[in-house]
Amino acid sequence: MNNKFKIFKSNIIFTPTMETFKVYKNSYIVVEDGKVKGIYEELDKNLKRIPVFDYTDKLIIPSFVDLHFHAPQFPNRGLGLDSELIPWLEKYTFPEEGKYSDIKYAKKVYKNLIHELWKVGTTRVGLFNSIHKESTELLFDLFIESGLGAYIGKVNMNRNTPNYILEDTKTSIRETEEIILKYKDKSDIVKPIITPRFVPTCTSELLKGLGNLAIKYNIPVQSHLSENTNEIEWVKKLEPEFKDYASVYNEFNLFGQTRTIMAHCIYNTDEEIELMAKNKVYAAHCPSSNYNLSSGIMPVRKFLNANVPVGLGTDISGGHETSIQKVMVSAIQASKIKWLETNKKYNPITTSEAFYLGTKGGGSFFGKVGSFENGYDFDALVIDDSNLGYAENLTLEERIQRFIYIGDDRNIIERYVQGRKIEEPKF
Ligand code: GUN
Ligand code: FE
Repeated sequence: MNNKFKIFKSNIIFTPTMETFKVYKNSYIVVEDGKVKGIYEELDKNLKRIPVFDYTDKLIIPSFVDLHFHAPQFPNRGLGLDSELIPWLEKYTFPEEGKYSDIKYAKKVYKNLIHELWKVGTTRVGLFNSIHKESTELLFDLFIESGLGAYIGKVNMNRNTPNYILEDTKTSIRETEEIILKYKDKSDIVKPIITPRFVPTCTSELLKGLGNLAIKYNIPVQSHLSENTNEIEWVKKLEPEFKDYASVYNEFNLFGQTRTIMAHCIYNTDEEIELMAKNKVYAAHCPSSNYNLSSGIMPVRKFLNANVPVGLGTDISGGHETSIQKVMVSAIQASKIKWLETNKKYNPITTSEAFYLGTKGGGSFFGKVGSFENGYDFDALVIDDSNLGYAENLTLEERIQRFIYIGDDRNIIERYVQGRKIEEPKF
């Protein structure tokens, strides 16, 4: 029985709802079979024989969830960010993504990338790969080895890209299906996701084939939506018969018919937002990327008010920062500018709201993830914030706020996924 249970003693902080942090000072969190069983101030007698992982004075928080990350863009972090989306894709992103036909190169990059995610405390991630099947499979295998959780998608694109990464429609669909069959039941936490890059690079025929696969195997979907005004104009020209951008995905069963993430969502119409709420389509808010590529500011409050599920994404390498903690700060700052810009119509998001988005908000896409309510996966970080200043007179709410703003990966001393401690990857 003892192996089934793990007990952690610490200051426990999480956000079951976005309005406030729920905090437990010096308490015990009991984990059974990787799931939270309960949080107690005193341990029940019959649990007293189980050894306690003692993190007194530290903080235990849900680990971070990154809903939007391009794996093959990892080497491009910090490069080419003086452009807007489309020239940036052409000048920097596509040439880099072309390199992943070389499996040796891919292996080097992916190992560094997984190491980085481990370091910054991201334990679940939604990943786009390049178009390449072999490197996508390698990414699956490395993630499974690491113990971190991910949805991984081979990108699909069959128009408006350079020849070296242009796919033939049938091959694109066939390879996607092969990956689904190989990996859909291989791991509980590393799973396939269907990944049309965005409408400008995918014909209707391709989108239709991918939507069919989503339904046939009940596989989730991720893509981009309304990130940049030139992109939106381009979609209108390419697909004039559709009333808006979201309707193109929706027509082909790629908009919530299975669980779906749409990255950016800066310029959605009210109707598109309504459809997202109705179909429970997740918005991946990527404020750092949206600043870098001068894309705009997503009105995140408007999405929250409309009950659209929202999580945070780094959008590497449109975003330059791998840490969701940094994206939380960006999201708060972006929302303050949006508040001023809209004549104070959309209230800024608070620290607890940003924390919620980067944990339970995105985590809910993966299951019962991102919170410590009973039955949730124990995906957690142990934080030592002693180098950030005195803690004696601070509330736990103040300590978590301080960590979000001025802490970093050096404060993260342990990572857990489903109750398993995740050691530093050996690669
Ligand atoms: N839209 C289509 N492809 C991409 C990409 O790689 N990054 C971002 N930020 N937006 C995109
Ligand atoms: Fe992106």
